[in-house]
Amino acid sequence: MEQNILKLDPKLKLVYVWQQPVRIFHWVNALAVLMLCITGYLIGAPLAIQHGTEASFNYWFGIIRAIHFIAGYVFFFNFIFRLYWGFVGNEYSKWDNYVPYKKKQWKGIWEVLKVDIFQLKLGPYETIGHNSLASTTYFMTFIAFIFQSLTGFGLYAAMSPSWFPKLFSWFVPLVGGDMAARHLHHLLMWVFILFAMIHIYLVFYHDYIERNGVTSSMIGGWKFIEVNEDEDKMNED
Ligand code: HEM
Ligand code: HEM
Repeated sequence: MEQNILKLDPKLKLVYVWQQPVRIFHWVNALAVLMLCITGYLIGAPLAIQHGTEASFNYWFGIIRAIHFIAGYVFFFNFIFRLYWGFVGNEYSKWDNYVPYKKKQWKGIWEVLKVDIFQLKLGPYETIGHNSLASTTYFMTFIAFIFQSLTGFGLYAAMSPSWFPKLFSWFVPLVGGDMAARHLHHLLMWVFILFAMIHIYLVFYHDYIERNGVTSSMIGGWKFIEVNEDEDKMNED
């Protein structure tokens, strides 16, 4: 525990919060979601692009779909890896931070809402890992990831010769067939776009009010935490 903490000044500590696997998951996921939103949007609303007279010159839509499916595999296995890391990772990345089953977490959600939404409190509500509102939102995003994978691979089962997507084919009839699965898949894209917009805004907002380096923590892993001196003494004892 102590070797993860470097002292900077009597009041500030540098805490190693996001281990490398969490950071790699985050950026691979962000990139995959970006590619999937761009290519998925084009699959849903194809452009009438034509260049050249040969059919092989007009294969751009096939390439868009291929990128979507490759990014789909990357997105899925990266997510499975993150689920595994929720069991073996450090105290900040463990699954029990994300599932809001403790009273303390609901109190935390209210405290953050007071700062972020209702502006009842101007000062920051400091936490070392994700705050309770953020982690609960990530939990809901992870559930949406599961539905996106089930509908995505479920739809892919009908057009892929591979055995893997076939494992998901049972899900399509369960939601009412191809069209319904496609609608759900499409709707979730907008959920991710909305999430990403609010997420990026809040990351920078919290960086600004807390001044603890939250944005760069997803790159380097470390956050600056102001330490209460009594607590510090207790840790040293
Ligand atoms: C963040 C994740 C994803 C997003 C935002 C996304 C988005 C979309 C969108 C918007 C469509 C078009 C739906 C329509 O309006 O008709 C689509 C189609 C599709 N997606 Fe995804 N998708 C994601 C993940 C996946 C995954 C993991 C797979 C699994 C391979 C997948 C496979 C498919 C398939 C098979 C289609 C139908 C392709 C076609 O009919 O040509 N998607 N996706
Ligand atoms: C410029 C873009 C982005 C930046 C700067 C960024 C930054 C961050 C930061 C600093 C955190 C930790 C914040 C906290 O403690 O609550 C975080 C967490 C997270 N972000 Fe992003 N993010 C970006 C884009 C995205 C996108 C596009 C997605 C995908 C939908 C995404 C999904 C997540 C998830 C799921 C977590 C929780 C990670 C975990 O606990 O494993 N982020 N992000």
